Order: sequence, then structure tokens, then C-alpha cells
Amino acid sequence: MNSKTLREKFLAFFETKGHKVIPSASLIPENDPTVLFTTAGMHPLVPYLLGEKHPEGSRLCNVQKCMRTNDIDEVGDAWHLTFFEMLGNWSLGDYFKKEAIEWSFEFLASKKWLGIDPNRLSVSVFAGDKDAPKDTEAADIWKKAGIPEKHIYYYPKSENWWGPAGEIGPCGPDTEIFFDTGKEKCGEKCEPKCNCGKYAEIWNLVFMEYNKKKDGTFEPLAQQNVDTGMGLERMIAVLNGKDNVYETDLFKPITEKVKSQILKVKTTSQKLKVDQARALRIITDHVKASAFILTDGVTPSNKNQGYVLRRLIRRAVRYGKLLGIENNFCTEAAKVVVDMYKNIYPELLQKQNFIIEELKKEEEKFEGTLSNGLRKFTKMGAGNKVSGKEAFDLYQTYGFPLEMTLELANERGLRVDEEDFHKEQKKHQKLSRAASSGMFKGGLSDASEMTTKYHTATHLLHAALREVLGKHVEQRGSNITPERLRFDFSHSEKMTPEQIQKVEEIVNQKNRQKLPVICEEMSPEEAKQKGAIGLFRHKYGDRVKVYSIGSPSQGSGQVFSREICGGPHAQNTDKLGHFKILKEESSGAGVRRIKAILK
Ligand code: SER
Repeated sequence: MNSKTLREKFLAFFETKGHKVIPSASLIPENDPTVLFTTAGMHPLVPYLLGEKHPEGSRLCNVQKCMRTNDIDEVGDAWHLTFFEMLGNWSLGDYFKKEAIEWSFEFLASKKWLGIDPNRLSVSVFAGDKDAPKDTEAADIWKKAGIPEKHIYYYPKSENWWGPAGEIGPCGPDTEIFFDTGKEKCGEKCEPKCNCGKYAEIWNLVFMEYNKKKDGTFEPLAQQNVDTGMGLERMIAVLNGKDNVYETDLFKPITEKVKSQILKVKTTSQKLKVDQARALRIITDHVKASAFILTDGVTPSNKNQGYVLRRLIRRAVRYGKLLGIENNFCTEAAKVVVDMYKNIYPELLQKQNFIIEELKKEEEKFEGTLSNGLRKFTKMGAGNKVSGKEAFDLYQTYGFPLEMTLELANERGLRVDEEDFHKEQKKHQKLSRAASSGMFKGGLSDASEMTTKYHTATHLLHAALREVLGKHVEQRGSNITPERLRFDFSHSEKMTPEQIQKVEEIVNQKNRQKLPVICEEMSPEEAKQKGAIGLFRHKYGDRVKVYSIGSPSQGSGQVFSREICGGPHAQNTDKLGHFKILKEESSGAGVRRIKAILK
């Protein structure tokens, strides 16, 4: 059975039971700032589970887009996903346990619907505790419906209680349905909760009759609701006898596309020791999730949903590089995602250009710094520990999300000083605050982003001046605020209007060319040899940071600008804005001063 048929069957079945099909809500919760993503089909329905009237009535069903970030590290195994779809049916104070259980059994076991042999089904029910009684009622209904008694298990809250989606809200005991995959038992005590792979959880029926309050206690809701959820990807895998979700029509085309791009660089990929299957799964999951998150209007950033998106894309890029893929593969894979889902979620097609553009930008941005960051990382880990400062440098200079550093460290058996990382981050934010003149609507982040851009523009200006006026031009001073740059340099004559215009043109041309800004560490001698501009009369430490701007395809000899500098810098020249020189004047004997802005 393919996913299309299962979607159709599920909704058609519940329509015969008086349910209205409602559309999937956005992945970004509209009315719940406490969580970043819609994590279950019930999530957008919370007001109705609490008693508000739903315009479509009290029996609803749908297929909901869901995103669960807590499973991100597990992705790569057989079943875990970040983005997935959930088939669900709801009773809003309408039917309760009897109908919910009987109908799910009918849908699974009836020849007219899925026709699963009831002997392959097991269920678990709530064992009872101080908050709610043992659910013998649910167990009795299962028995009557046709589940053998020895296939009924009683578990505590850890297994058989669902919700709330955030800190507080509707929740309740649940009953879970498991499918026997036919695998050997893992031991005498093998049972559904042991997670050995013999039993696959396929459907969860929640009896939502409690409200969890702030103080941690549970009060009965005004109405008894039913909330069920069946993971589409798992169910399709199980129905087709697959032992992992990636073998289904919901993933295969994406994985195939990614794989096809590895073949182009066979030689490099063969050299790498990497669990290819796992890497492909991670890329497949992450690209699909990214496409859906972008569709719902989020762009990569360092905050909230944007940060999760950035993590997903960058992690995919990193695994792509591990596999030896050298071209932009995320966009190619995302096109496949759009194609696969456009008939179910037309918004993907409408947003196709946006998805591709944003993915491309983020992929390129990270590609520019990834290999240098990785090289840097291999030198870290003195005393088996990556310090907070080092982790922050990876974050700030090379764009490594903290979680990626943690993952890399884990692979090498190193610890990361997370606490110190956060301290470094706070310190940096304070510095940004000091730099902020308060005129930036977006506050601190905008102010520090602007100074970073001016910093990069200063390097471009420096290189452009040397091109137009001659190699005698050397930096004599620099001062940057979020509003402008000021640059002093050695030159003895007033610049002509033509020279000024030429310099502006060069800088703006470099901005238009979207050049990556690359940071490398080396010895001062090496920097000098490579033609880096720097004040070599000064004393440098053993290692210096060298920032290069220019197309990597032009080779190392031909970068436009190469300077010894502490950073930080923009990762690419594309977003700097239009460069304009406001003033050119004398600043002492043989020194000129330029004030310029980015618009
Ligand atoms: N809310 C429950 C779950 O996510 C059932 O839909 O499993």
C-alpha cells in the first residue's frame, strides 16, 4: 500500500463515521508561543478540546504536518524523524472510549479497510496511579473487539499517558496499538515497550479528559475528548513489511536524488569512512523538514524556529560533505520534496522558489566556512575538552550551531563546556549592546550585524583602494559603528571624483558577486607568504586569523582581499548593501580618511 491510498482510506473511513476532514494547520503554532512547532494533530485543536465549539462540528479527522525536534539526534535509525505526518481523528466531547477503540480495530482489521490479522496486534493501556484509575474499561473493550487477552499490557504514565503538548493543557491516559513485525523476540520478557523492533507502535488513542495545571496537578476537563494519532510514515513501512521508514514512497525518491549526486564524485566518497546509510537518512529527513518549515514562512536565523531550520540545513550539508557530495545538493533534493507533496500540500508548489532560494543561500553560506571550521575543530580538544571559547568561536566565526559541535565532539569522545559557551555568548551579546546606538528596530542583533557588515566592507574598501590608487595604500586606522565606517590610509593626494567612483564601483561589484568570506588560521609567516595584508611591523602571536574574500574557484592566488584580522565578518558579501563614500578628506600628513555607509 502506498501513502496516497492510506491517506485516502483513513479519511474515507472516518467520514463514514460522521467525521469532517479538516486541513492540516501550519507547522508554526498560531496561538501557542510556548512551543516552536506543531508536534501533533491535537495541537491546533487545543481550544476545542477545552470546550470551544469547532465550526466543523464535534467529529474531525485529518492528516497533520508535525515537527518534533527532541528526536533530532535519533534521526538516522530506522524510525525516528523530525518532520512527519500524522493521521488523526478527534471527538470533541462527542464519542469516547468505546467508539474510539471499536473503530480503530475495525479500520485496522476489517478486510474492507486495512485487513491486518488481529493476532499481529497488541495493545497497551494505562495501569493507573494517584492521578487517574487503571483503564480496565479500555482493556475490556479491546477484548470484546477481538484482541487476545495475552496481547493486552498495562503500563504506567511513562508509557501510557499523553500530553499536554506544552507545559499545561489537555492530556490523559492513552491506549497504544502495536504491530508485530514478525521479528524474533529479543528475549523471554520481550513485549511492546521493550523497543527491540519486534513491536512497532502504529496508533495512539488518547482519552483526553484531564487538564494539567501549572502546579502539576490534573483536573477533569469540562468534556471527555478523544485524540488519536497514527504516524503515516511508520504505518506505511509496517504495512509494506519494511523495517525502516526510509524504504517507503515517502522518502525513497529524496534519498535516491541525494545518492545520485554522490556518484558524481565517486573517488572522494570512497575514501571516506562514513556510515553512508545513516548519513543519507539524516540528509533525507533534514531536507524534507527544511522544505516544509520554509514553506510555513520561516527563514534560517539564530533564533527560535529559524535556528532549528539552520541546524537542520547545516547538519544536512555537513553529512553531504562527509559523503563526498561537492555540489549544492539540498536544493536538488528539495525539488523532489516539492514534487512528491505538491498535490497534498499545494503551498509547497506556491513557495517553491522561496524554498530553493533560501536553501541555496544557507547552503552556500555554510559551505564557505565548514571545511575551515572542521579543520579548526580537529585542533581543539586539549584535555579531552572543547572549551566554551572554542565552541563559541566555531559558532561565531564558522557558523557551527552548538549542537553540531556537540555532535562532532561526541564522535571524538570529547566533552564540550556548554556552560562556558553560554557565558561567552552572553558576553558577546553585552558587547553588541554597547555597540548599539539604539536606533536599530531589531535591537542588539541588528546593531552587531551592521558592525559585522561594516567590518567586511572595510576589507573590500581597503583592497579596492590598493587596486585604484596603488599598493602603497596601507591601513592607518579604522573605526566602525552600526551606522558607518571610517577608514584612514596612507596616501598623499586628495582622491579625484573618478577615483572615488571607481572604488565604490569595485566594492559594489564584489557585493553583487556574492563572494564567500573565508577565515583560516595560520602562522604570520604563512600569512605573509600568501599575500595577506597586515601590519607586519606589529607583533603577532603564533597563529593569526586570515580573512579572504573572493571566489574559491579562482584559486588561492586570486582572492580579491586577504587580511590578517580578528573578525567577526559577514559570511558572504551578498547582504552588505549598497556601498557609498560620503567623504574623503585629509587626516594628517600623508594620511587620508574615508567615511562611508552601506545602504
Ligand atoms: N496526541 C497523540 C500523539 O501525538 C495522539 O494524536 O501521539
